[in-house]
Amino acid sequence: MIINHDVVIVGAGLAGLRAAIESAEKYNVAVVSKLHPLRSHSGAAQGGICAALGNEEEDNWVWHAFDTVKGADYLGDQDAIAQMCYDAPKTIREMEHFGVPFSRTEKGLIAQRPFGGHTRNFGEAPVRRACYAADRTGHVCLHTLYENCIKRNVRFYPEVQMIDIIINEDGECAGIVAMDIRSGEIHIFHSKITMMATGGIGRIYQTTSNAHANTGDGVAILLRNGLPAEDMEFVQFHPTGLYRLGILVTEGARGEGGILLNNNGERFMAKYAPTVKDLAPRDMVSQCIYKEIQEGRGINGQPYVHLDLTHLGLAEIEKKLPEIATFAKIYLGVDPSKNPIPVAPTCHYAMGGIPTDINCHVRSNEGDGIVKGLYAAGECACVSVHGANRLGTNSLLDLVVFGRRAALEILRELETEGTKKPYLPKNADAKIKNRINQIFANNDGESAAIVREDLQKMMTKCASVFRTEEVMQEGAKELPELRKRARKVKIKDKGKEFNTDLMEALELENLVTISESVLLSALNRRESRGAQARVDYPERDDANWMKHTFFYTDDNGHTEIKYRPVNMALAESNEEYADKFKPRVRKY
Ligand code: FUM
Repeated sequence: MIINHDVVIVGAGLAGLRAAIESAEKYNVAVVSKLHPLRSHSGAAQGGICAALGNEEEDNWVWHAFDTVKGADYLGDQDAIAQMCYDAPKTIREMEHFGVPFSRTEKGLIAQRPFGGHTRNFGEAPVRRACYAADRTGHVCLHTLYENCIKRNVRFYPEVQMIDIIINEDGECAGIVAMDIRSGEIHIFHSKITMMATGGIGRIYQTTSNAHANTGDGVAILLRNGLPAEDMEFVQFHPTGLYRLGILVTEGARGEGGILLNNNGERFMAKYAPTVKDLAPRDMVSQCIYKEIQEGRGINGQPYVHLDLTHLGLAEIEKKLPEIATFAKIYLGVDPSKNPIPVAPTCHYAMGGIPTDINCHVRSNEGDGIVKGLYAAGECACVSVHGANRLGTNSLLDLVVFGRRAALEILRELETEGTKKPYLPKNADAKIKNRINQIFANNDGESAAIVREDLQKMMTKCASVFRTEEVMQEGAKELPELRKRARKVKIKDKGKEFNTDLMEALELENLVTISESVLLSALNRRESRGAQARVDYPERDDANWMKHTFFYTDDNGHTEIKYRPVNMALAESNEEYADKFKPRVRKY
């Protein structure tokens, strides 16, 4: 069936829902999501969404931009960072007016808490910048935006999985090919505007805070259609995942006063980041935790450390951190008001993704080309505001700021150009139908679960926090075979309805494509910067590597890497603060 809409947004997390709002007043807007919208992974975000509101103490967007540029290890594009930090206060107030029930200060203002790497006055001391709703910030934002979309008659297609994108002979995006998971039917969505808001890639690793659905679908599908992925080597490991499970324990816990302890009971972050200690940025804290473990100071010789909240007391924990207290009790049997929580780094966030310009148009190459009709925002996109390392609470902000910018640009495009859709190629779904028939016909492959597990093991061994040429080369050698195995998986369920076997087989191909982009981009970058800690190249090398990776591949695994310069707009401006934005050694 061909389904027609003016706008088709893929993904119902905060970026997708925020982007749907403006055009829906006047145009025919659809949100396609492989989950029910309220199960989108944005809902798992806990600790906050930042903006220099200054509700707790003086703050301003330039300090926020400084922290973001420094946190990003100077790889973030400064024009995009300035835009995000400048837009932040009005975007948050707008979220408040949409109905987000933020926690409040005694005066009734939106409450704010400190988070890693957020400081006042260019690094002087931590600042309270993260607006929060206890430790359920993502959950309340998701519900509020969903209600606002319903109010504006956005048409939802829940449990419909995108399998391909349609780019016509003129290089314009004409929509997507998707499978209705409930019926197994393949549909073509034909649209004037198509937007990717497909979320993260965390499932390429064994331990992650990401949901099962975070298989990098949008990035992988665009890659297989010849479009680039930017800075994929930069994958963030959040310092505090519940030990072994990887479930997020919000950085807000350290913002509220929690401290990390090693086996000697030492507050070890004090020696690595004397000014901000436990509130250093995530790349540093995760690397320090592993250092403590490698040097034998993990708890009882095991690969984890303690997050101690006991001094906060039960009442404070119940008021500000109820969700993580419940997780610790349910999953580890630990009551955080009485005992420290065992934690270890967990894969959390992709700084890289689909390259976009500042108005969320998808870039077609490492130059200034764009794909007409195609937008992206949120974690799947790379605009790039996070560079080599994202600061906590800048992710929810990125989702709503760039979701909003996409919304305004989409509206502008519809208003100025009308709703005439790009030409739809004949049999746009033929390739996908063939591929699905092939999967059904495979009778002697392995299950997707087995290949996925081997892929995740390889990525965890070869491309997690610390990396070396030797180990990454080992992983790179395994990739072609993993790719072949993924192409040949066998599914047991041969039915059409709710065939999760088939979904997993399709997602596995995305995981392989994403792993390849992460591993090969990391291998090529011979320096340490932000989340890429290369043991064999321990220094940041601005002379050679102050540039964004643009990774290309095709269906057969032919790959190519190109580069694009970093935007230095703030450092090159005539403002009195320009000097603060010039690259220098990061100290906290
Ligand atoms: O720690 C957290 O609450 C996560 C926030 C984020 O990733 O921005």
